[in-house]
Amino acid sequence: MDSAVTVERARALFGALPRPLGFVPTMGALHGGHLELVRRARARCATVGASIFVNPLQFGPNEDLESYPRDPEHDREKLAAAGVDVLFAPEAREMYPPGFAAAVDLGALGERFEGAVRPGHFRGVATVVAKLLNVVRPDVLFLGQKDAQQAVLVGKMIRDLDFAVEVAIVPTVRESDGLAMSSRNSYLDPTQRAQAPSLHKALLRVRDALEAGRGKNDAIAEGTAELSAAAKLDYLDLVDAREFAPLERLRLPAYIIGAARFGSTRLIDNLWLTS
Ligand code: PAJ
Repeated sequence: MDSAVTVERARALFGALPRPLGFVPTMGALHGGHLELVRRARARCATVGASIFVNPLQFGPNEDLESYPRDPEHDREKLAAAGVDVLFAPEAREMYPPGFAAAVDLGALGERFEGAVRPGHFRGVATVVAKLLNVVRPDVLFLGQKDAQQAVLVGKMIRDLDFAVEVAIVPTVRESDGLAMSSRNSYLDPTQRAQAPSLHKALLRVRDALEAGRGKNDAIAEGTAELSAAAKLDYLDLVDAREFAPLERLRLPAYIIGAARFGSTRLIDNLWLTS
């Protein structure tokens, strides 16, 4: 596996790869979800690129930028073993040199749900993904359904700004008890880890209730009752799959989305509903 820490070197390495080129952007601390993205890219593309960059622009002032888990040695080994051809792992000063001022704003979609709880988060995500796409110039961008609002937002950016890349969304990889794999799961103590799958159970309960014909409010109330009493719910809702606008009744394709705090650890999850 080749790797680059500068934009200039990354452009040269990615530019020389056979096509189609698949690309998996990450913030490192890699787990089975990230590696599934790499596997999908390997299966579909001639070559695969990945990035590791803990993007300061997408963290709020009181969030976990400093403490975000970092494990560069193991990450490199995992990506090489999974068949990544080129890794781009820049430092913040390479991506955002003094004077950097650009921002990609996607409007209302970036201000709902995760965007409402984390102001500026999606502007940071869209800006870094735009930069990474310009450096890597992939044919297919692989994103996880785990971060569904992010995937929808990046898809909108690609359409709105005419990036020449296709998006492939990969289903969420879960632990055996249903908890969606996440780098932030490492923050959970054993008690919280035991409570955390209740977020997925809440989503399943909402889905079952909707499919049984219950109204949205009743379905959400049933789902909320599944969540561990020790958790603090940020939101649990039914939204359309294109704009993440709340739906009053089930209309496909849709997502049931949820976010909850277990102690100071905030987890998100969703279910995709399609015909
Ligand atoms: P990160 O949280 O490291 O996730 C990188 C990619 O892995 C994202 O597309 C995410 O949706 C996907 N992913 C995470 N957990 C997953 C799981 N359990 N199953 C399937 N896919 C999963 O998301 C980011 O980084 C950043 O915002 C980034 C896009 C890299 C921009 O900085």
